[in-house]
This record gives sequence, C-alpha cells and structure tokens, in this order.
Amino acid sequence: MMSKVQFHGEAVPLEMHKVRIVQKLNLPPIERRLEVMTAAGNNTFLLPNAEVFLDMLTDSGVNAMSDRQQAAMMVADDAYAGSATYTRLADKLTEIFGTDYFLPAHQGRACEHILAKTFVTPGTVVPMNYHFTTTKAHITLQGGTVEELVTDAGLAVTSDLPFKGDMDLGKLRAVIEKHGADKIAFVRVESGTNLIGGQPVSLQNMIDVRALCAEYGVLLVLDASLLADNLHFIKTREGAFKDLSIREITRKMADLYDVIYFSARKLGCARGGGICIRDRALYERMRGLVPLYEGFLTYGGMSVREMEAMTVGLDETMDEDMIDQGPQFIGYMVEELDKRGIPVITPAGGLGCHLDALRFVDHVPQAQYPAGALASALYIASGIRGMERGTLSEQREPDGTEIFSNMELVRLALPRRVFTLSQVKYAVDRISWLHENRRLIGGLIFFEEPEVLRFFYGRLKPVSDWQQKLVEKFRADFGDSL
Ligand code: F0G
Repeated sequence: MMSKVQFHGEAVPLEMHKVRIVQKLNLPPIERRLEVMTAAGNNTFLLPNAEVFLDMLTDSGVNAMSDRQQAAMMVADDAYAGSATYTRLADKLTEIFGTDYFLPAHQGRACEHILAKTFVTPGTVVPMNYHFTTTKAHITLQGGTVEELVTDAGLAVTSDLPFKGDMDLGKLRAVIEKHGADKIAFVRVESGTNLIGGQPVSLQNMIDVRALCAEYGVLLVLDASLLADNLHFIKTREGAFKDLSIREITRKMADLYDVIYFSARKLGCARGGGICIRDRALYERMRGLVPLYEGFLTYGGMSVREMEAMTVGLDETMDEDMIDQGPQFIGYMVEELDKRGIPVITPAGGLGCHLDALRFVDHVPQAQYPAGALASALYIASGIRGMERGTLSEQREPDGTEIFSNMELVRLALPRRVFTLSQVKYAVDRISWLHENRRLIGGLIFFEEPEVLRFFYGRLKPVSDWQQKLVEKFRADFGDSL
C-alpha cells in the first residue's frame, strides 16, 4: 500500500509509479499572465492551455494513463457489432460490480441523459445527497425536480467529519413520504460528491439508504464517477470495513444498487462512460436509447481504443497504490494550506483542494464574484488554472436577480498521477503569497454575460486597477522570478 513516509520528520505522500512520458510546461512571466487573463475575460475556462503552467481546472479526461492502458489501446477491436473490445469491458465491469448488463455511453452526462429520459417524467422527484450540474440539468429537462438531502453537517465548510457526503436518512424518509414512493423516479447517491468539495459517502450510509429504498420499493442509482477516491476514504476512514480489500468494498457497495453509472473521464482514467444494470427488464427499458443518441450497443459513441484503456484502468482502480495517490496529494495540499491559516474545505476530500473564497477574500461582495476574482488572481500570481464554483456558476432568476451560491469555492483539481510534489509545493507557496496580499484582490463584473452557462463563456473585468497593483507587489516581492 502506498503510504505517507516520514522524511526527516515530515509526512510526505510517496509516488508508487514513475514518469515515463512527459509534456513540457510553460510558465509565462506575470506581466504576460495578466495580459492573457485580461484577454480571457477573467474566466479560467477561456484561458489557452499553452499559457497555463499547472492546469487544475478539472480531473476529467486529464488523468495520467498507465503503460498497461497505453499498450491495451493498440489491440482494440474495431468492429461495428460484436467487438471483442466491448466484451472485454463488459466482462471487467461484471467482475468488479457483479452486474450482468452494461450499456456504453460517450461520457457521464450521456448516461444521465439516458437515465433521466427513461425514469424521470413531469412531476417526479429525484432525491440525492447532492447534485452535479449535468445531472440536475437532465432531470429538470424531463420535468423532474431534484431534492438535495446531504446532512446539514455535510455543508459546513470546515469540519472533521470523515463522510460529509452522507445522505440524511430522516430527510430521505420525509421526502418519500411527502411525495409518495410512486413519484420518486429514483434515489441517486453520488459517491464521492463533486460540488461540496469531493467529500465521500460512507459504506454504512449506503447500506442504510438501500434499506430505506427497499422498504418503499424505490430504485437506487449510484453515480460512481468519483468512486476511486471514495474507495480510498472507506478503506482509510471507516473502521468497520478496514479489513476488506478494495475489491471486497467495491462489491459490497455495488450489491446495494440497481443501476451504477460513471464518467470514465474520471473513473478508470480514460474517456467515456457507461451504465451497469442488475436487472434485465431495467436494461431493456434503457437499451433503445443507446443506438439512438450514442452509437451502437457495443461502443456507445466511444472510441474502441478508449474502451480498452478503460478496461485496464478499471482493473487498476482495484489497486490501493493507484487510488491512494490522488487523495494523499490532496490531503498534503490541504494540510499545508490549513497549517498556514489559509481557508480551505476540510477535511480533505477527493478530486482536488478547494479554497474558500468567502473567507479568503471576505472583503469582496458576493455580487462581485469572490471565487471568480480569486481564481483570476491565482492565475495572475502563479499560472495555475482553477475553477470557480460559486455564484458565477449559478444562473440568474428570470428577472435578473443574482442567486448567491451557498459556497464560494475555487476548485484546484489534482488530476490523478499528473503533478509532482514540488509542483504542489509551488502551488502552496503562491497561494500563501496571495493570501498574505489578499487585500489587494478586488471584485469582477460582467461585460459579456450569456444567458445560459455564463460561467463557460462569460467575460468579466476588474472593478478597479487591482490586478496591476497585484503585479507590482509580486515584482517587489519576487524580483525577476517567474
Ligand atoms: N457526475 C459527477 C459526479 C461528475 O463529477 C461529472 C463530471 C459527471 C457526472 C458528468 O460526467 O463530464 O463525463 O459528462 N464532472 C466534471 C468535472 C465535468 O469537471 O468535475 P461527464
């Protein structure tokens, strides 16, 4: 098992792999970074990657592949029907999850589209621990509504609760009672969660949710996109299951669900997705939508090469050395920032490190997008690209009123096995400098605001010349350093 080793008294995560293919990075000087950020309208989605030093936007489709994954891509079976590549992938999923049926889809949101089209009808409700943007969009598009039932404690930004992604069983029972079991399209568990800081769900909570769903006869669905991180946390934080192997934990979990879907851009370190189904009748209800929207049943819109890489990647996910790397690096980063008094979501979860902008720049009003401003300032100070997860990512009310988000976060994703510890240390150093100089950071306002998905395409400008002042201070402190 990959463990934290003591290095002169300092606990550091140890990489249980070596780097054999590299990609050169560019760290432009700060004056150039300001120019690039200005041209991108202070929106990190609009930054050209060639000008980005550490791309911490997401962990989706950007995880490092293993040599075995790359090798498997060379032996893919290109056939429209009956492809051996499909059989290898479907068999691997049966081996890992114990489910008999598999539908391929081109990525996670495509699975959500198929699930929503099959089970959600106008007036139905989908209770879940927490939503993801694409999940909610597909459910509301079919006329359904989402009920978020994570425990109240799960929404506390700082905490020492090990499983902040757990569902509140009392709230779940109340929602089912209120609407009636026949109005529940399905119950969805996101494991681990995304938008509340990569926080995991305990296996015990899943067992209890299953019992409740069985009592009312409602369908239970697992979003396993962030499963690798969640498995690590069950193994290391949930005492009752610490003696089970990763495979045993996975199987015990999978046995609880009727349907398991995932984004293979995260789970399995490839690009694609799929839906695993226990029951033949359920499988048949969904099957027709795959050739209609995705591709034939043996590839579902994916490249066969990616499917081969996914098969190997899923197998490697059952290896603790592999799944521990991401959470341990995130844990290291969160601890180092927390030690320096920098506001981050605690405890550390999966996916990435999350800066709490409401506290980091508590002088920036929510109407001026504190998380967006912090993400912009961080790129200028470091060349690091993070993602705004706050008010900017919400949509205005039809009358133009802003909906202020519960949390204002800058997500710094750590794609699995991509960054080195010195790069993480660089990030910690630059974030610390920014924190010391946080009073220099000002707000942002839109000058181009699209009606839909404004966080993807919108452009903003600073409310003052605060960015120039930040550059001047950087030069004064760092001399001619990059
Ligand atoms: N479910 C979860 C929990 C996710 O994190 C994502 C994607 C999806 C579903 C959708 O999968 O992207 O393959 O269509 N999360 C990405 C992110 C986009 O950056 O966090 P997809």
